[in-house]
Amino acid sequence: MPYNLLQGKKGIIFGALNDQSIAWKIAEKCYEEGAQIVLTNAPIAMRMGEINKLAERCGNAPVIAADVTNNEDLKNLLQKSMEHFGGPVDFILHSVGMSMNMRKNNSYTDLNYDFTHKTLDISALSLHRILQLAFHMDAISEWGSVIALTYIAAQRVFPDYNEMADAKALLESITRSFGYQYALKKKVRINTVSQSPTRTTAGSGVKGFEGFIRYAEKMSPLGNASAEDCANYCVTLFSDLTKMVTMQNLFHDGGFSFTGVSREVIEQMEK
Ligand code: NAI
Repeated sequence: MPYNLLQGKKGIIFGALNDQSIAWKIAEKCYEEGAQIVLTNAPIAMRMGEINKLAERCGNAPVIAADVTNNEDLKNLLQKSMEHFGGPVDFILHSVGMSMNMRKNNSYTDLNYDFTHKTLDISALSLHRILQLAFHMDAISEWGSVIALTYIAAQRVFPDYNEMADAKALLESITRSFGYQYALKKKVRINTVSQSPTRTTAGSGVKGFEGFIRYAEKMSPLGNASAEDCANYCVTLFSDLTKMVTMQNLFHDGGFSFTGVSREVIEQMEK
């Protein structure tokens, strides 16, 4: 049942590749809650993706291609979005991640640094790029809300999460540092949501993902949070009900992050 929490709000959603994408569920939920949205993804992802289907489901939302490593693309996206909405946006979702080393099966102790630069650029610095452009173009309205999706490997070691752990640590740091600056300038709030492992294209790229997701399920007293649960949480963070929350890394993981060990895992070990 919709609560109209985002009635009248306008936002940009990055990263909906297919109907498994967390961004896809968030876009649908934002629309259901009354928001108008613009969808964006990398030009290449749009060619293979199904984003136009999502656009139709979200009131014929405009779809604007932008590679997050390209300033001109991002400037064009912000400019066109402001023209479409007739002013600045109220929220932005950053749901973007990619690791070239993981794709090439390079382990953490055998990184190709050209790939690592690309990984950091796409998965972390892109948030800074978006925020810096928005800051100077005045593209986010007062009390606007920005969310980037992250993973707990930024704080704790998950060996097969590889260089993405470093990318997420940087993403969370940019969230704090820019959160401070943007709060002073325009009361814009910036947070990361640290989501449970979720079956998506990016998620399934992590080595041993099935074992990983089952372990997390057993270690989370509420079980793993789904993409739909994540969408609901993000709606609250885009809404006016969470105005004073900024610069935080917010765990959305069914209790995983604060569980030392669970009864189920102990029982498994005793077998
Ligand atoms: P996904 O594969 O559906 O989404 C990743 C998106 O990044 C895709 O839409 C892709 O086209 C986009 N992207 C890659 N390179 C880009 C570029 N250069 N420019 C613009 N967009 C680009 O997978 P998912 O899982 O929905 O990922 C979304 C976010 O959630 C990522 O930041 C991911 O790290 C994060 N996350 C995912 C978890 C999982 O288990 N699936 C757990 C915690 C966080």
